[in-house]
Amino acid sequence: MELFVQVGYDALDTGDGGIGGENDPARHREIAKKLAPTFSMKNFRAKEAAIQTHIDLFVQRMKEHGGGEKGVDMESWSDWLGLDLSADLTYSLDMSQMRDMKSSVLLINCLKLNLFATLSQITRKIRLLTPVMYLCIPPSVLLAMPKLIKMNKQDVMLRIERQGKTEHLDYFEQLVPADKPAPVDKKEIYHLQNVSGQVMIAGWQPVANQYYSLLLFLLGEPDAYAALVDEIRTGFADYDDIKIETVTNLKYLNACAQESLRPHSATADGLPRVGLFAAARHPRYFTDPLKFRPERWLSPDHPRYDPRYKDDSLKASKPFSQEPRGCPGAVIASVVIRLFVAKVLWGFDLEAVAGRNGLPVFERDFTVMAFWKLPPFYVRFKPVERK
Ligand code: HEM
Repeated sequence: MELFVQVGYDALDTGDGGIGGENDPARHREIAKKLAPTFSMKNFRAKEAAIQTHIDLFVQRMKEHGGGEKGVDMESWSDWLGLDLSADLTYSLDMSQMRDMKSSVLLINCLKLNLFATLSQITRKIRLLTPVMYLCIPPSVLLAMPKLIKMNKQDVMLRIERQGKTEHLDYFEQLVPADKPAPVDKKEIYHLQNVSGQVMIAGWQPVANQYYSLLLFLLGEPDAYAALVDEIRTGFADYDDIKIETVTNLKYLNACAQESLRPHSATADGLPRVGLFAAARHPRYFTDPLKFRPERWLSPDHPRYDPRYKDDSLKASKPFSQEPRGCPGAVIASVVIRLFVAKVLWGFDLEAVAGRNGLPVFERDFTVMAFWKLPPFYVRFKPVERK
């Protein structure tokens, strides 16, 4: 039944794996089936206004703060946009990090989990190392997990109180529909907390990584950047024309999004990642495997098609994993990433602000534990002047 068995990263052994950490394949199938309609295209379109509001706020903030000499720190801004959007879509939670230009307590604590989540998985496999884990982790990191669980619990309870009164459709609506009685059973509420907490993190972290890395890869390849800018600016007469239904028509943008997900695939927790991560970067499957080459994803009728990549095995790139444990948010994620990039490149000329070592280099500067740790990357957003 199960292609990829989970290792169980519900680090506090609380007895409920939510969706991503559910070990029992039959139970996992039940949960995934219940949640599935919330990831449909119809459901996604109903959330479009909310999605656009967050991306528009990012664009607005860049108009106000992005044009300065130092540019803006893409690591923070990607997380702020990613988490503001994901918390809102998951349980209509207003994080306002972009408005306040400040990381929330939730974000700060989630990022602290990086070391803890990794070591806790290792000690699950090698129990003897458990005391070592407690010796190497600072108390503030150890406290992050209970703090997050508490915050998530409060947010879920708040959302249950607002049943039927949210401003837009969210993922939680699928778990507790407005026309059904509010849950009262403790075990059920606990399960809802786990599922929605995981959906919120799953919908934030890997997408935020892509806001960052797609801009980074593009700025490292001026030719690809210029081609994409041209496609976006000739494809849309007006900023407001950039919508879910129109953005998916841009072939080069689609190729760029797919290519960015290839070397920098996202979630590391619990997946037998060796096969997927290595295959996506292996010369057996890809020509110039470590280079950002959107052309490999184009069909022969595209003007930028390059036969050099004709023998690439594109199926070797599986950023969303596959089969029963595959990502249910794959379509949503890839459209949101394209909306983001289209709106940004329609409105701004981007310039990387090079650090002492130049632009960050994936092979040299990125590290991964439970989450990716991204190097500093500053970008200048210069508004495009139109007559
Ligand atoms: C670029 C963006 C994304 C990437 C690369 C990505 C990748 C993945 C991968 C590789 C998995 C499997 C993890 C595992 O087996 O441990 C996964 C699972 C999952 N993803 Fe995503 N994801 C992305 C965006 C999203 C979004 C936007 C959502 C929700 C709106 C989402 C929701 C989930 C959920 C709920 C699971 C658990 C599925 C299950 O266990 O049945 N993901 N994702």
